[in-house]
Amino acid sequence: MLDKTKKDWWKSAVVYQIYPKSFQDTTGSGVGDIPGIIRRLDYLQTLGIDVIWLSPVCASPQVDNGYDISDYRDIDPMFGTLADMRRLIAEAKRRGIGIMMDLVLNHTSDRHPWFVQARQGRENPYHDYYVWRDGQPGRLPNGMQAVFGGPAWEWVPEVGQYYFHQFAPQQPDLNWENPAVRREIYDMILWWMDQGVEGFQLDVIDQIAKDPDLEITCNGPRLHEFLRELSTETFQKGCLVTVGEAWGADIPRARLCSAPDGSELSMVFQFEQMVLDQQPGKEKWDLAPLPFVKMKQSFARWQQGLHGCGWNSLFLNNHDLPRIVSRWGNDGAYRVRSAKLLAIMLHGMQGTPYIYQGEELGMTNIRLPIEQYQDLEIRNFYQKRRAEGCPEEEILRSIYAKGRDNARTPMQWNAGPGAGFTTGTPWLPVNPNYREINAQAEMADPDSVFACYQKLIALRKRYPVFVEGDFALHEAEHPRLFVYERSLGEEKLLVVCNFGDEATPWKAPDPWKNAQVLIENCPRQEGALQPWEARILYCGKQ
Ligand code: NOJ
Repeated sequence: MLDKTKKDWWKSAVVYQIYPKSFQDTTGSGVGDIPGIIRRLDYLQTLGIDVIWLSPVCASPQVDNGYDISDYRDIDPMFGTLADMRRLIAEAKRRGIGIMMDLVLNHTSDRHPWFVQARQGRENPYHDYYVWRDGQPGRLPNGMQAVFGGPAWEWVPEVGQYYFHQFAPQQPDLNWENPAVRREIYDMILWWMDQGVEGFQLDVIDQIAKDPDLEITCNGPRLHEFLRELSTETFQKGCLVTVGEAWGADIPRARLCSAPDGSELSMVFQFEQMVLDQQPGKEKWDLAPLPFVKMKQSFARWQQGLHGCGWNSLFLNNHDLPRIVSRWGNDGAYRVRSAKLLAIMLHGMQGTPYIYQGEELGMTNIRLPIEQYQDLEIRNFYQKRRAEGCPEEEILRSIYAKGRDNARTPMQWNAGPGAGFTTGTPWLPVNPNYREINAQAEMADPDSVFACYQKLIALRKRYPVFVEGDFALHEAEHPRLFVYERSLGEEKLLVVCNFGDEATPWKAPDPWKNAQVLIENCPRQEGALQPWEARILYCGKQ
C-alpha cells in the first residue's frame, strides 16, 4: 500500500478510470451505478491499482454524460445517493484505493441553479457567473464554433445577450474572471475533500481562462494565475493527486502545470501523441495512418522534457478516445499480443499510468447502426456530414474508428447475459465479442491481457527505476521498433516493442544479452522479434 502522507505518493501510483454509466449495473436499469462500483472493488484490488478516477457522478441532466453538472454537491439519482458515494469512498479506502473525482469547472449545466438565475436578467447577481456578450438575434458576437459543432453563442431573449459555450449549448461556460465564481468552486472542492476524496481530475482545465473577444479558448492569459490560486485555496490543504485535462499543453506549459513545488497540479493529460494521426487543419474524423516514428519520438520528447522538472501522465485510452488495441494495435489475429505490447510500451515509461476500464481486458471498438449511437458528438458529426452530402459508409467508417462510444460500451464481466453488466437492457449495446473477451475469462488465464497489466503494476511497485529512471530512445528512426532504456544508478530497463504484423530482425545489444526478462508477451526466438512482440529487460540489483 502506498504511503499517502508522502507529498508525491502519486508518482508511484497507478490510476484506473471508471466510466460509471458503463461499469456495473445493480438495479437492472441498464445504467451502471455506485453500488456496482463497490461490488467490483475486489476486482480492482486484485488488479493492483491505487486510485479510481470516477468520471462525473454529480447531478446532471446527462446531455453530455455527466459533463454537464447541475449540482456539484449531490450524486445523480441514476448512480445512487450521496450515502452510496460515502460508502464507496470508505470501502475503497479500506482496500488502499483512493477516489479521484471528476470536476467540471469550465462550465455547468444550463439547469444549474446559477445559470437558471443568470439567464433571468442582467441585474441578477448570478448573471456575471457566466460569459455574456451583446448582440442581436441572428447577429452573433463573433464566429467562434463550439467543440461539438455549431456556434459557441446562444441567444437569451430575457437578457438580450448571447452566452458563451465551448461545448454543447446546454453547457454554458463559467466566468472565471469573477472572483465570486472562483470562491464558490473552491468551497465546493473543500467540501469534497472533507468527504474523503483523494484526488481530482479537472475537465478541460486549460480552457477556463478563455477570452472570447480575442477568440482565445485554451491557455488564456490568466490560466496559471487561476491554477495557482485554485491549488493554494484547495489542493495544497491536503495531500491529493490532481490531473488536468489539457488538450492545448505543450512541454513548457506542462512543466508549469506540474511543477515539483506543487504550485499548480500534480500532472496534466496532454494529447500530442493522441492527435498525431490527425492532419493539420482537418477534423479528428478525417482518418490518417499513425506516423509511428513521430509517435515514439514524441513520447521521448515528453519523457525527457518533464524528467526532474515536472510529471507525465501515461495513457492511451479514456472515455473520449477509441480503444487503443483497435486504433494502434491489431484487434484481429494479434489482439491479445498487441494489447499487451501497448501496455508494456506505456507502463515502462516514467509517469503515472492510467488504465481505462476494459483496457486491461483488451476490449475493442464496436460497430453499431447509426441509430444506436448515444454520444452527442457522434450524432452531430453524422448529421453535419450527411447534410454536406457525404456518403453514409464514409461517415460510419470514421465513427467506427474514432467515435467516443467505442470506449463507452459496457464493461464485459462474463460470458453470461448482458455480459454480467446488467440484467436489463444496456443503455449502449454490449460489444458482441463479450463471450470471448471478459473479465472472468481473463482472470482465469495466467497468460491474459489482465495478467499482463497486473504484472506491470506490480513491477512498478517493486523496481524504483520504473518510477524514477531517466529515458533514452534507441532505434529512433526505425519504422517498426520502439525501443527505449530507463536508468537509475545501477538499475536499468530496456523496453523492446515490435510494432506491427511482421517479424523484425533484432539482437539484444551487449549489456542486455543475458539480462533478466521482467515481462514478455510471446515465446522468444533467436535473432528476431515476432509480430507485436514486446519485453522488458532488466539489469541491476536483484
Ligand atoms: C472533456 C470530457 O472528457 C468530455 O467527455 C466532455 O464531453 C468535454 N470535456 C466537455 O466537458
